[in-house]
This record gives sequence, structure tokens and C-alpha cells, in this order.
Amino acid sequence: MKRILASLLLAAAILARAGELSVDAAKPTGPVSPRLYGLMTEEINHSYDGGLYAELVRNRAFLDHPDTPVNWSVVKDGTADAAMSLDRSQPLNEAIPLSLRFDVTKLAQQQRAGFANGGYWGIPVQPNTTYRASFYAKAPDYAGRVTLSIESDDGKTVYASAAVERLSADWQRLEVVLKTGDIAPTAHARYVVCLDRPGTAWFSLVSLFPPTWNDRPNGLRRDIMQMLVDLKPKFLRFPGGNYLEGDRIEDRFPWQKTLGPIENRPGHAGCWGYRSSDGLGLLEFLEWCEDMKAEPVLAVFAGYSLKGDYIKAGPELEPFVQEALDEIEYVIGDANTTWGARRAKDGHPEPFDLHYVEIGNEDFFDKAKTYDGRYAQFHDAIKAKYPHLKLISSMPWAQHNGRKPDAGDWHDYSAAEEFVKKAPTWGADLKRHGPEVFVGEWAAHEDASARPWDEAAKKLPVTPSMKAAIGDAAFMAAMERNGDIVKMHCYAPLLANVNPGGHQWRPDLIGYDALTAYGSPSYYAFQMFSTNLGDELLRVASSDTLVQGCATRDSKTGAIIIKLVNSEATAQTLPIALKNVTGLKSTATVITLSGKPEDTNSISEPKKVAPVTSTLEGVAPSFSYTLPPTSVVILKLQTR
Ligand code: AHR
Repeated sequence: MKRILASLLLAAAILARAGELSVDAAKPTGPVSPRLYGLMTEEINHSYDGGLYAELVRNRAFLDHPDTPVNWSVVKDGTADAAMSLDRSQPLNEAIPLSLRFDVTKLAQQQRAGFANGGYWGIPVQPNTTYRASFYAKAPDYAGRVTLSIESDDGKTVYASAAVERLSADWQRLEVVLKTGDIAPTAHARYVVCLDRPGTAWFSLVSLFPPTWNDRPNGLRRDIMQMLVDLKPKFLRFPGGNYLEGDRIEDRFPWQKTLGPIENRPGHAGCWGYRSSDGLGLLEFLEWCEDMKAEPVLAVFAGYSLKGDYIKAGPELEPFVQEALDEIEYVIGDANTTWGARRAKDGHPEPFDLHYVEIGNEDFFDKAKTYDGRYAQFHDAIKAKYPHLKLISSMPWAQHNGRKPDAGDWHDYSAAEEFVKKAPTWGADLKRHGPEVFVGEWAAHEDASARPWDEAAKKLPVTPSMKAAIGDAAFMAAMERNGDIVKMHCYAPLLANVNPGGHQWRPDLIGYDALTAYGSPSYYAFQMFSTNLGDELLRVASSDTLVQGCATRDSKTGAIIIKLVNSEATAQTLPIALKNVTGLKSTATVITLSGKPEDTNSISEPKKVAPVTSTLEGVAPSFSYTLPPTSVVILKLQTR
């Protein structure tokens, strides 16, 4: 029996080796979409608050809970007495209708009393770094100083501090810088605001920023931005996802209230179990795109929210259509339009480069089946005002009351094996002359019994393993092969805070805590695909091989880029035939991502699985390449 099994395995291996993958360079099957690889984002897994948005103070406006200043605690020395409470009688303004009242009733000389914030699972302290602290305060009867410090959790080590000598009787914004010295990085730290004598003071919008990407005020975390820029994304789909819709209609992404100074932003209820500060608002999304050299793909709220509320097409929907038109005007209107002028006032006179607008998100969940009418109403209004914009339907397989969308948004969360299985024929049933295909959310999970929404997923690491990266790569190869109709795609979700309680969904492309960020194997697979791409699609045919692949050519350099995926646990020797290639160089660059299926990256081992670049000799029109077990390989061949 054992011998029969062994011969069967040998036969299978020989069969795998006997196969071939051929790439025909004679006639490209079409151009590669200039925006094939992009990113998708929403406020999930503390993507912004506690993630990309660089604010370090959690609950800075004291709005996260109606009754208590959550995430804040009182700090006092020895015999001191002090208390804090939310005070609605001393609002900062209409957007922030309360403040933190801090009463110090007993304080001896040399003692301090204050309130501390532990940030989002710690305040990250880096050496030789300047932090910008700001806050609003009023204190008609307090004549002492206020000290702001970044210190260890137990208060024994002060990493940086600064003081404000006097507060004014009325609300005043104060700003200081805190500089750290030559210290070891840590996130076991807190931010403390202290008084030095008895009295009462009110505080609002207590904020602390580290250096941000491009030094933008109210900006984004540098390490995560670097990782995103390194993916060279061509677009950013935002603001959702479910976050666009909200649980209820009043919880939809309130783009108007996310504009202007942060003290005018009340924040809103998110749909993933926590409130959003809206510090990362519409303009910050757009500037984020600008900083990545990516174009925005703007999703507009279309009258349906997650818990099933909907606005049926007709006059009741009209204010929502107008809201979308205004939002688009904010993005692309001249500075002499109403909302273009608002954008200019907010600091960005130049319109942004918008080409695609998505109408809603996953409207196939609408049990009342009202999307056809809603889509049609948005479609007509947007096309009338902005005929050049391409509109994306969130129900990709349908026309809507006779309106043909320009693109349809397909979502696919599959197990790695499912992607590997369906990838070879994936796309065959897509209508070649139908709307463009936008795979606006996709990701492989390792195990079919632990899908992202299953209880079982909660026990797994938040970022995926090599096994999932193989499924991702097989699917990306399929999408690239179908590049004549698949014009854009993006992995989702993009970001996750790895701390317990920091995330609601797995798997996610990038993980981080307060101090560091890392890419999952899927991140590196995505990066290999997105940053190695020609502009012409080449025909790939494979026979009798378990290796999957796709190929493009760079018309400017002549480079042929072949992407290969070995989902097997054994090495695969793959004969490769290059048809109709002239001037082929014998040396090629190889980029390899490989590991055991269970291998993964983490905060402590951020690059356990990472791409390795090497040189290959002996490339010829017909040659063989051996792929390591469980690997993603890119061969960059030169033809000039
Ligand atoms: O990516 C996570 C969620 O999955 C998105 O918010 C939603 O659009 C989809 O169901």
C-alpha cells in the first residue's frame, strides 16, 4: 500500500514537472489598467484613531462617553485631593458641548495633581523627538501653572515636559512642544496634565501629536504612511465599507462635520464598536491620497445603512443626492463654487483629481431592494453635473432601472484554498463589454471555518500567515490576467491595531501597536504585485502544472514581468516557454516570498516572511525555474 502511495506521489511530482507555463510576447492582449492596484480604507480596527491618524490622546474631546471621561484617570501625589468630571455647563462650543472640570481641593507644596491619558494602548515615546501638545483651558480662579508631561506608566520617569504659566479666565487655546532626549523607545507611557496648587480649571481638546508624514498639522503617522507609500497604490477607496453607511442613517460618514479646525468636529458613532473623532476627515483623506500620489475613489452615502434603514427613491432621497453632489463639489469644484470655496478656505484651493465615485456600499444587503431606484437617482444627478465622472455600482451584476454603471464593485473574502482553486478559471464568466470590474474588497483567510465574521476568527492573529498570502497571490494573478476588464482592485481591510480590543476583523494587511508597524506576508505579496507591473498584458497559458501565474511587459524598457504562485508544500520545477521574444537577456531579477504556510509576521518578528531579491542566470526562450515550496515569485526578464 505504502509503495503504491509512494509511486502515486512520484507520478504526481513528475506530472507537475512535466507541465509548462508559456508567455506569448507577440501580441499583448491589452493595456494594463493604470489604476489596477489600490487601497481600501475605513475606520475599522482603530485604523485612524489609534492607527494612521497620529493623534496620541484617546478621547481628547471627552465625548467618547456621555457621563464619564473614559480613558482619563486622576493622578495625585500623597495626601493630595483632586477630582475630575464632565461639565456640560462649560461647553467649548456647539461641536464640543462639554468640557473636563478638574478640581484640586488639597495640594501641598511640591505636590502635583492632574489627569492622565494612556493613549491608544500606550503613548509611544521615541528618542530625540518633538511632540506638539495643545489644549483649550479656562480657569477664572486658578492662578497656578499647568505642567504637561510624557512619563512612564508609573510616573517615575519623565521623558519630556513643558509648562504653561497662567491660564486665562475664558477659553484659550494653548500650545507647547515637548522634546525627548536620548531615551529608549517605549509605549509604557502616559500623557499627564498637572496643576500645582488648589483650584478649578476646565479643559477641552487635549491633544498631543508626534511628528507627522510631510509634517502636516493634524497629520498621519509616519511609519504606517511609509508602508502605504511603499505599495505605490494608484487609488484609495474611502470612506468605506460599512463606515460609509453607519449603523443608522444618522451615523453615516458625516463629511461636512469632518471639515475645518478639529475643535469644530464633534466626531460620530462608528459602526465597529467605537466612536470616531473625525480628526481624519474628508480633507485629510484627500491629502492622504495626494501624499501617496494616489487618486481618490470616493464612496457617497446612497440612502441605506447597516441596520436596514433606507430612504426610498424620490423626493425623500433628494437631500441625500444633494449631499453627494456637494461632497463631490468639495473634492473637485473650482474655488469659486460653494464647496470648492470651502475647500480653499480649509487650505486646499486646488481641486483634487477624482475620476470614480461609488454609489453606496454593498447595497445587495438592502432587504427592501430599493437600490435600483436609489442608484438611478444618484446616477442621473451626478452624470448631469459631472458627465466625466465614472460611477460605480455596489451591486455589480445589475443595471439599475436602465442605468448602466461604468463599473461594478465586487467583494470577495475567500479561504486561501478557495482562491487557489478558482483562480485558474476566474474571470471567464465576466462580461467583456460589461461595466468595468472593480474588486473593491478582497482578502484570503487561512481556514474556511474561520471566515472574518466567524467567532473562530477571533482566536487567530489579526494579520494573516503565508498560507493566506498564497491565496491572495493566486487571486491577484487571476485579476491581472483578466486585466482587460478588471480595472481596479484593493485588499481589505488595510490596517489593524494588534492590541487586544484593538480590532474587529481579521485578516488585515498591516498590523501595528503604538510604537511600531509591520506588514503581513499578504502585505509583501501585494507589494510584489503592485510595484512590479508592466503596461501591456501578455497571454499566459499553462498546462499540467500546479503553478499559477500572469505576465505583463513594460513597453518602455521591454522588461517582461512574470508572477508565479506555488501553492504546494513541495518545490515545483516549472518549464517556462517564452514565445515570440527577441533580444532576451540571460540574466534576470527574481523576487521571492516563501515560508511555511503557518509562518507569519508580528510586532516581535516583523520580517519573518519578507521578499528576497536575487539574480537568475541562464534565462532562455525555453528554461526551467524551480519555485520553493509555498512561494510567490516574480521573474523580471530583460529583452533589450
Ligand atoms: O472590510 C470589512 C467589511 O466587509 C466592510 O466594511 C464591508 O464593506 C464588508 O462587508
